[in-house]
Parts: sequence; C-alpha cells; structure tokens
Amino acid sequence: MSRGDSAAEGRYGRFSPDGTEYLITDPRPPRPWSNVIANPRMGLAVSQTGSGFTWVDNSQLGVLTDWKQDFAQDSSGKFLYARDRDSGAVWSLSPAPVFAPFDSFECRHGIGYTSFHTLAHGIRATWTLFVHARETVELWKVELHNESERPRAIDLTAALDWVCGVAPAPRREFHKLFPETWYEPDRGAVFARNHMWDVQSPRFGHWNTDFPYVAALACSEPIAAAQGDKTAFLGRNGAPHAPRALGEASWSPLFGRHHDPIAALRVVIALGPGESRALSFALAVDGSRDATAHLIDRYARNGALDQALAEVRAGWTERLAAHRVDTPEPTLTWLTNDWMRYQAISARLWGRCGYYQQSGAFGFRDQLQDSQVWLTIDPERTREQLRLHAAHQFADGSVYHWWHPLSEQGHVTEMTDDLLWLAFVAASYIRETGRLCVLDDETPFIDEARPAPLREHVERAFRRVFRRTSARGIPFIGAGDWNDGLSACGLDERGESFWLGHFLAGLLADWAEIGRRRGEMEWAGELAARRDTLVAAINQHGWDGEWYARGTLDDGRVFGSHEDRAGRIFLNAQTWAVLNDVASPDRAAQCMRSVRAHLVSPAGALLLAPAYREPAAEIGYITRYAPGLRENGGVYTHAATWAIAAAAKVRDAGLVADLLRAINPALKDADAYWAEPYVLPGNVDGPDSPYHGRAGWTWYTGSAAWLHRIVCERVIGVRPEWDALLIDPCMPPGWRRASMTRPWRGSTYRVAIERDGARRDAPEATLDGKPLPGARIPVPPTPGQVHDVRVRV
Ligand code: GLC
Repeated sequence: MSRGDSAAEGRYGRFSPDGTEYLITDPRPPRPWSNVIANPRMGLAVSQTGSGFTWVDNSQLGVLTDWKQDFAQDSSGKFLYARDRDSGAVWSLSPAPVFAPFDSFECRHGIGYTSFHTLAHGIRATWTLFVHARETVELWKVELHNESERPRAIDLTAALDWVCGVAPAPRREFHKLFPETWYEPDRGAVFARNHMWDVQSPRFGHWNTDFPYVAALACSEPIAAAQGDKTAFLGRNGAPHAPRALGEASWSPLFGRHHDPIAALRVVIALGPGESRALSFALAVDGSRDATAHLIDRYARNGALDQALAEVRAGWTERLAAHRVDTPEPTLTWLTNDWMRYQAISARLWGRCGYYQQSGAFGFRDQLQDSQVWLTIDPERTREQLRLHAAHQFADGSVYHWWHPLSEQGHVTEMTDDLLWLAFVAASYIRETGRLCVLDDETPFIDEARPAPLREHVERAFRRVFRRTSARGIPFIGAGDWNDGLSACGLDERGESFWLGHFLAGLLADWAEIGRRRGEMEWAGELAARRDTLVAAINQHGWDGEWYARGTLDDGRVFGSHEDRAGRIFLNAQTWAVLNDVASPDRAAQCMRSVRAHLVSPAGALLLAPAYREPAAEIGYITRYAPGLRENGGVYTHAATWAIAAAAKVRDAGLVADLLRAINPALKDADAYWAEPYVLPGNVDGPDSPYHGRAGWTWYTGSAAWLHRIVCERVIGVRPEWDALLIDPCMPPGWRRASMTRPWRGSTYRVAIERDGARRDAPEATLDGKPLPGARIPVPPTPGQVHDVRVRV
C-alpha cells in the first residue's frame, strides 16, 4: 500500500481531495467519529450517527440539549425525522435515531460544520449543522429533493430534549421539576428556560438560582404541530427510534412548567417529482426571551443561513491562512494545516469539549498549552490566555488545577507543575513576538485584588516551586506533576519528580535570559545559578544507569527505575532531559536509545513501560487503569509528540519518521485503530492491552496544538529564538522537500527546504538569494515584507 492509500480509501470513509473534509460513507465505524464545532461561546458535538448535544459558554454547566454518552448505541441527541404522509414510512436525516437503511449515505465532517447526505424512499436530503461565527445560534440547513416520480408530502420533525443546565443530568425526575417551556406560533419557535441551575458555587447559592439563559428552537417554515412533553411525543414506553407522535395527524401541545421538557416541531413539505426545497432551523440562546427571540427572527431564515455558513467557512480559512506547510505526506499536511489547529481552537480552547469529555472547565496547564496554537497566527490570543490564567493564581503562587467559567468554581490540588506553565507559555510568546512588554500585563490574584504584572505572577510561581524542593535539590511531585495519575507519590511532600526538574531547568534557562533582556541582572543571575544546581542534582540523583528515573515516593523509593517490575521507564523523564539540555550529549543519546528499546511501539511512544497490573496506592490512580490504557502504558499522544521533538533534537531522523508516522491517525487501519482519522486521540492502547493500537479520547487532547508546533518547529524545523528565526529541519529520511509560509515579527517568510543528496553538516540557507549564515533569519528591520528562504539539507 502506498502512503496515500489509506487516506484516499479507508474502510469507513476518506478525505476530500483538499483534505478539509472527511467523508464517512459507512455509518458504523468502530467508535463514534465526531466533530466538535464551536465559536468562542457556543458549540455542538455531533457524530456520524447524528447524535450529540449543544452548549453555551460551558459544555458542562451550560448544556442546552440532552445527550447520553453511550458509544455502543450512540443514539441520543437532537434529530430530524422524515415521514412520508402517504406510505407512513419513517426515517431520520442522519442514521440515528431511526437507523433505517439508506439508499445512499455520507456524513461530511468539515472545518466548522457537519453535513449528512442521504437518500431514502426517493427523497435525497442534506442536513448541515454549524454554529454562527459569532452569535449564540446553531443553524441547520435542510435541503430535500424528490427523486421519485410522484408528488410527495413529507412531515419533517425536529426533536430534542432540553437540559438548560448542568450535564449529565441523570436525575431527570428531579430536574424536570424546574424548567419552563412555551410555544410562540407566530415565531415558529419553542422556548425553554430553567428556574433552577445546580451549579456548585457559593456565588449562586445551593439550588437557588435561575439558569441564566433562554433557549429556543425555531424553523423557517410554517409549523404544522409543536410538542413540549416527552411522553406525549414518544408515547408511553415509546422510544426515540419510533416516536408515536410521528404517526398522529394532530398533536395536543403540552408546554409550561409541569412536563418532561422537550421541543418537537413538525413542518409539512410538499414536493412534486424532481422538485427541491430548502428550509432552516435555528437553536438560539441568549440572556433573555427577547434577545433569544431576536436571534430566531434573524437566523431562522434561509438566506441568512447560507450567508452565515459562508462566513464560518471563510472565517476558518482566514484564521489558518497565514501559516501553512507542505510536506510529502499529504495527510500530515492536511492535519497540520487545518485539522490540528481546528481541533485545538474549536474543541480545546472554545468548546472545551469532546465526545469523550464534556468538560467546560479551563485546565490551568491544559488551555495554556493549547493557546500556543495562536502564536504564529494571532499571538495576542495567547497573551489573553496568559492573562486569564494569571487571574486564576493565588497570591502564594499556587493555582487552580482547573476552574469553571460561569461558576468560577475551581479545584485546589497539590499538583506541582500547573503554575509553571504560565512561565513556559509566556517565554514561548516572547520568543515568537519579541514583546517583553507582556510581562507588564496586570491581573489580580484570586485572593489578592491588587493587580500584579505577569512578571510577578511568574516569580511567585517560581518561588513556590523553589520552596517545594527537597533538601537534595529536586522539586517535590506532590499530588502529581504533568502526569495527573501519579496522584499519591508525594502527598507528604517528600516524593520528588525528576521530570519536574527537567521542566524547571528549561524554564530557569529561559527566564534567566528574559531577566537579562529586561536588565534584571540579579534575578537573572539567581535563576542561572539555580539551573546549574538543579541540573547537577538531577544528574547526581536521577540517573538510573540507562535512563532517568521518574521520581521518588514519599518513602524515598525511586520509581521509573530498572528495579521496578512495572513503570520501569517513563517517557517524559527522558524526552524533557534531552529537550532542556539536562542530559549531557552522551546521556541524551543513551536516553533516546532507551526510549527506542523500551518505549517505541508501532502505535507511537508509550508513556511508560511496562504497564502497572496491580493498583499501587502509594503511586496513585495511574496504577488503577487497566494495563495499557491511557497514562498506564498507553501511547499518551500529548507526551508522544514530545518524543518526536526529542528525537529531532538528537537528530535521529529515522526515529522522527517512525514516531511521526506511528501517531498519524490518517495512516491507520480503522478496524484496529477505531477512532477518527482526521483528529488526534488522547491515547492509543499500548502493548499491555489486548487492543494494542486502539485509539480513543479524540478531540479533547493537548496533543493537537503540540503536534502542530512540533511538526513546524522541529520536523520542518522553523522555530523562533530570542532574536532570530532558526531553520533547523530534521525531516524523515524519505522526504526530499518541505515548505512553509509563516509570519514572524511582522514579515512573512516563505521557506522552501530541499534535500539535494549532498552531504553537509548543517543546512545551507539563503534569504532573498543572499547567503544566510547559521540558517538564522535576523529580526526583519522593515516589517511588512515577504521574504524567500531557500534551504538545502
Ligand atoms: C490530562 C490532563 C492533563 C495532564 C494529562 C496527563 O490530559 O488534562 O492536564 O497533563 O492528562 O496526565
């Protein structure tokens, strides 16, 4: 099989020729293949069956419509039913919930929309779902075409269950006591609000506040019937695949405060032979009935909808346009240019939601890392993210592990790395933009109202970590560092983390440099000295012979060492030692040999090996996962991307090629891999699982922003330094070329890299035809220009 084949014709679908859509032609892939479509406030998740849900502002606390996370059935959500009024035949415009056979089927997941294309009973239908680029309204465009030779009358019924609150809401009999629905026939809309919102927050009182929004479902066509009660719609003991009401000529509408709240709207569409009709539905939400009604009036109209969809598509194209790559592997090019960044922005930053995790919260470390996706295209958004996270830090330097927007409920933990990601992302921002002034951005602390500059937030984070360091100079691991599952190693503040040491060592180098640039020589000197001491301590206590140990437990036992039966070697403790120059060149080479020997699998680099088989309470919940799953010996994609960066750092192009290929979802056999080919998974089962190579937790993973960055900065190798843009490719040996267009410091660089077969130690580069020493592009003296960079490797 040649490289492109699996992409061109997969078992369940294929990419469109330009890679911006994935066309699912068999509706039954091994797991739901979903899309997470969001604008900065509103979003929906939808799978190839049509199942899914919609939220506003927070995908857990602001859920509008009900959905059940049940991957075996994948049949709950918002649906469109079709019924032939003459024959009585019923089907749905997506596979769920009726699962009637289609004469043809395609689900197209695109960047910002999903559409279902079906043919059943002589009716060709297209149902396109998306959210408006800015407004809090989800729009459905429906097109029906009568392919039969007789006139047809089709009942089209849209149906959903209201939540208007926190999801999941499994206690329906309790929760249904509070919502209120009403029908406004003139507007063709069913409205819903909720008089009780069970957010866990002192700010709102317990069970004593309204859901702060009003939602509505409306259609562009005259409504033939509306229903607001679930039993009236489904029938007693009825089921969503065959609601009794579909066969009833008229409905007795039940709206108000005493029902099981749903919205069902029926319209009747008459179609002569060969005739087509377009109609639209809008699911709108805003702070009041009037504001929501206003959205309905504007958007439940056909013309408005076409324009809105064009705007969404143009919005994504423009957003991603300034930074593009081209590589010999088409699927990698598509993923890098479009899907990874769409994943990071739509699902991680805006929606904070995936089909596997309805989160809504900001993870302190998570969305900061995700915000790296803006660095090259809109760095001020990274800066906004820095401000937002800085405002979720306490005066003692500690931070919420996560917090919920809307309720501002936050989780206080003894995790030890979260706070440092502020320093990490701020340094990345400065390297990219040169704007040291970011350090003057002021935000308060959670418990100290006086605004403090980012520089002080970062220093307080550093100082806290310095305080939480063992006598021999290694930072404590607390209730976990980057690895959430190492949740019990250091609860008594004795266990140490060598990985956190590696991470901190890199930050100390960066911040010493930043300090020098700001003329803060004493601070810079302190950080540089601390780095030296730390690096020496790690190398003295953390080197296990062939790799770095992961840490120590509260009782002093080393873990991630050759003496362990399970969890003998951990990936991050090697890759970050290499990336941050904690390891000497010899040790770095040895680390990567050990990675190759123990951790590289055909599914990518494993997070640790071998997997834990027995729960170990002194280590944490990582040991409680089934062997080979997620952090317990699976490929944890987030960390697997760092292995690619480390392989590039030691210039092991063969390893770069293997690891890159191993985690490319588009190159997998779908029956073994299970998950979507167009987005990254959070994890892939490792060899200790009977399903080695099975992926899951798609969309909601920090790997999307990271893999984008690593492909660009380490593989194609164009990365910013403090005063230069360095070209340092480490391309897979099979690549003869790669190119990138990218903005930097106000100018645009078109970089073309070619492997010409000549042997040379370092790349040879020209900038606008003139030799470029060290392949380092200096800061452009006159921004606003387009420059050509040619590189031979
Ligand atoms: C999850 C968490 C992330 C953590 C990772 C590893 O993805 O959201 O913060 O670093 O797991 O445990």
